[in-house]
Amino acid sequence: MYEKDIIDQENKLMANVFGKRQIVITKGKGATLWDINGKEYVDCMGGYGVALLGHCHPKVVAAVCKQAETLISCHASLYNNKRTEFLEKLTSITPKGLNKAFLSNSGAESVECAIKLARKYTGKPEIIAMMGGYHGKTMGALSATWDKKYREPFLPLVPEIKHVPPDNLEKVKEAITDKTAAVLLEPIRGEGGIRVPPDGFLQGLRQLCDEKNVLLIFDEVQTSFGRTGKLFGCEHWGVTPDIMCLAKPFAGGLPIGITVAKEHIMAAFKVGEHSTTFSGSPLVCAAGCAAIDALIEENLTEKAASMGKYFKEQLEALQGKHTIIKEVRGKGLMLGVELRFDVFNIVLKTAEKGVLILDAGRNVLRFLPPMVITKAQVDKAIAVLDVALEEEENARASNTPSN
Ligand SMILES: Cc1ncc(COP(=O)(O)O)c(C=O)c1O
Repeated sequence: MYEKDIIDQENKLMANVFGKRQIVITKGKGATLWDINGKEYVDCMGGYGVALLGHCHPKVVAAVCKQAETLISCHASLYNNKRTEFLEKLTSITPKGLNKAFLSNSGAESVECAIKLARKYTGKPEIIAMMGGYHGKTMGALSATWDKKYREPFLPLVPEIKHVPPDNLEKVKEAITDKTAAVLLEPIRGEGGIRVPPDGFLQGLRQLCDEKNVLLIFDEVQTSFGRTGKLFGCEHWGVTPDIMCLAKPFAGGLPIGITVAKEHIMAAFKVGEHSTTFSGSPLVCAAGCAAIDALIEENLTEKAASMGKYFKEQLEALQGKHTIIKEVRGKGLMLGVELRFDVFNIVLKTAEKGVLILDAGRNVLRFLPPMVITKAQVDKAIAVLDVALEEEENARASNTPSN
């Protein structure tokens, strides 16, 4: 099939819900993607955080091929060796005390499970989420997501989920009532523009939740698996939640959602009260085992920390050069650049020049590259961004359209 045919067929046959770039990707390796014409891209989109190990990591490829020949599916009403192995590896890296997991297929499902579990365990209905937070688009997760463009077309949503201003302990305190089951938030808000909380906020929140007997849920769907330079984002502040939501990179690129909780909390679920058909499939679990092995054996968390530091320094250097950059933020390889205007033109321009970058909201460029991104690739991304920003500045200065 030709490029145009693929684009036309996808547009015709697939629900039109994704903001598409007109690029047909056919191959990936590490932090490099190739399109159907053989054009090479530095991948700073990282599949919205999924491709954290890099595309087609050899350990994951080998594990998937081997498992596909052995057993692909096995319902969780039967035991399976790969599932057990994955659960052991997973709970050997999760923060202390978070040792009981429910396995699903996506980030939103991991949040659904967390909301249901909090309600079931506490017997209370209310969930406090953050303004600016993002938790997915199924009805429960969407109810905790803030952006009204996602929420409003689907009202009414799940009741008793309310939002408070982020990073403000007093506002959380005021919002807690005797009906509150849990506070749910991302340790670093991703979709909301790469917002790192002020030091002390998460520690204060942990203390507040303990005092008020309210559960603390961290949505680490985007901040875990070493992305931020620590295995889990919450480790930057030494805070452990009661329930944690995981997904994106945990199966090396295959679909997975994980809700991990303290054992006595997960025990609130009785048989049949929560499930999904694909929970812990052998194929996904084999990929997950290989992914965790690669993460640990290749010291990728440390690499994310050091390459992230280098990347951030280069972005800060660009800030010194381009007045249209308002702020550079983030930790590890979860980086954001806030511009003084809409970023989508820059996203399109850099893609044209061989660097794929994400947006986060209207005016933030978001970088979620694989941990295996090389220094040369970071340098290319910076050089391309530099040119794109300069072109945009010049176009704005002369007040002419930029392309
Ligand atoms: C923090 C967070 N939670 C939940 C989700 C939803 O995950 P999924 O798209 O896999 O349902 C996302 C997706 O971007 C996310 O970033």
